[in-house]
Amino acid sequence: MFKRVPGTKDILPGEVEAWQKLETLSRNIFSTHNYREIRPPLIEDASLFNRSLGESTEIVQKQMFLIKKEEDVYALRPEGTASIVRAYIENNLDKTHGFVKLFYMGPMFRMERPQKGRLRQFHHIGCEALGSVEPDLDIEMISLADSLLKAYAIGGYTIVINSLGCAEDKLALNRMLQEKLSSRTGELCEDCKVRFQRNILRILDCKHEQCRAIVNSLDIRDKYLCEACKAHFTYVREGLDLLGVACEVSPHLVRGLDYYTRTVFEIKHGQLGPQQDALGAGGRYDTLVKQLGGPDTGAIGFAFGVERLLLAAQAADGAESRQPAGGNLVYLIALGAVARKQGMNILANLRSSGIAADTDYEAKSLKAAMRKANDLNARWVVLLGDNELQEKVAAVKDMRNSTQEKVNLSGLSGYFKGKINEAGTV
Ligand code: HAM
Repeated sequence: MFKRVPGTKDILPGEVEAWQKLETLSRNIFSTHNYREIRPPLIEDASLFNRSLGESTEIVQKQMFLIKKEEDVYALRPEGTASIVRAYIENNLDKTHGFVKLFYMGPMFRMERPQKGRLRQFHHIGCEALGSVEPDLDIEMISLADSLLKAYAIGGYTIVINSLGCAEDKLALNRMLQEKLSSRTGELCEDCKVRFQRNILRILDCKHEQCRAIVNSLDIRDKYLCEACKAHFTYVREGLDLLGVACEVSPHLVRGLDYYTRTVFEIKHGQLGPQQDALGAGGRYDTLVKQLGGPDTGAIGFAFGVERLLLAAQAADGAESRQPAGGNLVYLIALGAVARKQGMNILANLRSSGIAADTDYEAKSLKAAMRKANDLNARWVVLLGDNELQEKVAAVKDMRNSTQEKVNLSGLSGYFKGKINEAGTV
């Protein structure tokens, strides 16, 4: 028997409804904020990610799914931002629109060690706004993330923010860390010894207690920020305060991708476990558009991990929610060959009137077919046998209250439409 690749999931009926709900809520909230959907491809030139995420990042070093075809190396996208910047430049959106607000949903791929909340194929709901360095946009972006979580009815999260400063400030921070840590590398964990050489900023968010203690003693907060970046960050914090979006400022937040500048943020949730506690994350990337060949313009975005949103939602509900299908489904049980033929017509009519309808394709007995209707959570059963056919009626059973009545075959669609309108959405 074939098994799915470790770290991937089949999202089955019963589970998929929760996904659809998140997607619909997201579309509504994005639309009220004037974001429009973009659907970039799932594969890109691997070099796009090497350039934008950074050669020394964990994703580029260890986690990309690469496909080699002769001279070309493609990658299954490990994240969406780089693709969207590429699409922005390649499709001249910078010239035709200048400032754009885009959202996206879909699978991302990273070669991870699979565990709860950490998969090899996972899904992002994310957005990017390109073409502005205004701090008002940072405020909108973080409050949009907050609004989405409220719409999903997920509580118990903390928004953590920091500013990495502009490109020069990041260099200053690098230098500061080099100076302060060079005599203490022996005290760092094994990973941070490597980070010291390759990606020193990541030492700041190491979870090792010993490294944390060292980082806390460095007192780097604000020290590397130029006046303009300090003012930008103050404006963002004050704006969020005014909107009532609670944030925690942490100098430890650096994010794992090289493209970030200025505001970075992460949304943490207590129910996810210490190693993967982020529901979502994002920040500014004011140098990336230019770096990839576009104009010198600012941008900011974030992405939620959908699997983690669902874990947090389940923790709130107290149980994994498996929703039955059904709703307003009409289930036709036709007994006998003639009735079955006529039944196909009835199904077609109901469906073309916008009524969800299905029938028994397993040629079950009446009892077994009724059980199937129950399993499907059908709202009504339409029974059609020889007697009904002669009378040109069907017996319609309401599965909620077990009442039954005869309805003219020609009036079935109207009958169900009336019932559905009466009850509103069921
Ligand atoms: P990221 O922090 O790598 O950022 O991913 C965003 C979110 O995706 C994480 O906070 C987490 O919820 C989820 N996630 C990441 N890796 C996995 C995994 N292996 N399994 C399950 N969920 C995962 C980005 O990707 C940036 N592109 C976000 C961004 C957009 N920054 C600016 N714009």
